Amino acid sequence: MKFRTLALAAVVFAITVPTGSGAQEATGIVAYRETAMKALGAHSGALKSILTDQTQLMDQVGIHARAIADIAAAIPAMFPEDSLDPPTEALPSIWEDPDGFQAAADRLAKLAGDLDAAAGSGDAQASLAAFAAMGKDGCGGCHADYRKKN
Ligand code: HEC
Repeated sequence: MKFRTLALAAVVFAITVPTGSGAQEATGIVAYRETAMKALGAHSGALKSILTDQTQLMDQVGIHARAIADIAAAIPAMFPEDSLDPPTEALPSIWEDPDGFQAAADRLAKLAGDLDAAAGSGDAQASLAAFAAMGKDGCGGCHADYRKKN
């Protein structure tokens, strides 16, 4: 009897306490949207690389800017009501202020569109300025109000 209880306790412990680093893995919709956010980060990194270093590839800016605009339009659907399973960094303000959250996603889509247009005109300076505005207002603007600060 005693052994069975111990064995059961060990199983429960193994299930509830993550081993290794102790960092909890996101699952479900939280895992999906964190991956989508990382994709936004990767497109932003590619843009920075082109605009500050690989300027001969300016004609590839639009690829990343349009990908960001497409993903931005999909952001609100990635946050179904109260999807707050740990280790999410989402704040409840997303659902307290859905219009503001939608507006923040729309703003990123618009700023990414502005970057696409600037790059299309071939103006490197304007493209760099549009990229900076996109990161600050588009990404940063939403994170300031709707994402936990570390
Ligand atoms: C409309 C709001 C909104 C916009 C716009 C937005 N984000 Fe986020 N972002 C969030 C929220 C909320 C989280 C936290 C999600 C979670 O942990 O469940 C997040 C998380 C992240 C993360 C962390 C992902 C992880 O691994 O935990 C990165 C990286 C990120 N965003 C990058 C970006 C970049 C780059 C942009 C702009 C190109 C951007 N985001 C635009 C709301 C936004």
